[in-house]
Amino acid sequence: MADVDLATIADVRRYLIHLNDSFEGKETLVLKYAAPYLAASGGTMALPTERQKFDAEALRLVRKMHTDDDVITVPNVHLFDEEAHVIIMDDCGTDARTLKQLVIDEALPQTIAEEIGAAIGRFLGRIHAWNKDASFDMGILSNNELGRMLSALVTYDRLISTLTGIDNIAALADPGLDIPDGTLAIISKLAETRSHEIGSTTEVFTHGDFWPGNIMVSLRRESEGGMLRLEKLYVLDWELAKEGLRGLDIGQFCAEMRLLQRFYPSRQEETSTIMRSFLLAYRGGSGPDEALTRIAIAHVGAHLVAWTPRVHWGDKEDTRKTVAEGVELLVGGAEGTLVWLEGSLIGNLMT
Ligand SMILES: Nc1ncnc2c1ncn2[C@@H]1O[C@H](COP(=O)(O)OP(=O)(O)OP(=O)(O)O)[C@@H](O)[C@H]1O
Ligand SMILES: [Mg+2]
Repeated sequence: MADVDLATIADVRRYLIHLNDSFEGKETLVLKYAAPYLAASGGTMALPTERQKFDAEALRLVRKMHTDDDVITVPNVHLFDEEAHVIIMDDCGTDARTLKQLVIDEALPQTIAEEIGAAIGRFLGRIHAWNKDASFDMGILSNNELGRMLSALVTYDRLISTLTGIDNIAALADPGLDIPDGTLAIISKLAETRSHEIGSTTEVFTHGDFWPGNIMVSLRRESEGGMLRLEKLYVLDWELAKEGLRGLDIGQFCAEMRLLQRFYPSRQEETSTIMRSFLLAYRGGSGPDEALTRIAIAHVGAHLVAWTPRVHWGDKEDTRKTVAEGVELLVGGAEGTLVWLEGSLIGNLMT
């Protein structure tokens, strides 16, 4: 089926004709197609389809990893067609929403926000601790050079060009940000160090794109008008899974929670609760970790700087204020005192 273009609905139908009508009693499955370009670029930016190998492999590995957690998991993969660049996996459910969408849509009861944060925290903690297990073997994931390159590219490699105006981002121009040279020098040095670490670290298995848009949540109401319950969480999209830095998964998740907090002020409480339960469950009783906290808080900063002005979150003024906060967090991650770290957004990793 070499002439099939799975970016079109008609050709997806042709492809799926080869499946039986029903499969293991399930009414719906999900087909994930990897195009040879970045979808968001409208086909203009090439992106090797090789990334899907890592997605499929990580989904399988994480599923196999011993977990007795029935709240949070990954979808089961039924087929990986490497030639057609297709993964067919379980549907997280037609009622499931990404965590980002859920937080925007609904005021969540405190208990649900706590449960969500805690489940995600213990899941990530387990993923990151997997290397301590005798059966730890990342297979091809220890070779995700594309993932390493992309992770550095979308954050650290564009911090300086974003802040100095070279990237020509409208929200950050007229007037430019006018960041002092000393501050730019600190950020530049941190970016260089972190990019190097992303390219060379070999210790820990990480998700690599750990944000609330890659986590699906399904809630259930016990009965008409009854209590709302957390049914299931699924962690998706493992294309950037690799040997990586733990602080980047933690930082990316918290950065997106911070963005929700800033741009949806009515969700202040839910996002704080999710973040706190996430961090405490991630730690699981282990002692303060200054090095990890520094990397994570600086990554919150890097994410706020690199992403806020590139994704439409809100107006120009709020975007600039958020980027300014990102700058503060980058500098704090590099040079902040212990007291500053403890009082920071992710102080729960320290105190
Ligand atoms: N198994 C699944 N069940 C239900 N929904 C899914 C499933 N897989 C993906 N989705 C939906 O499709 C979206 C994109 O999937 P995914 O994150 O895996 O791909 P992606 O390549 O990163 O695309 P994007 O750039 O849009 O995030 C998810 O946010 C989710 O809403
Ligand atoms: Mg995704």
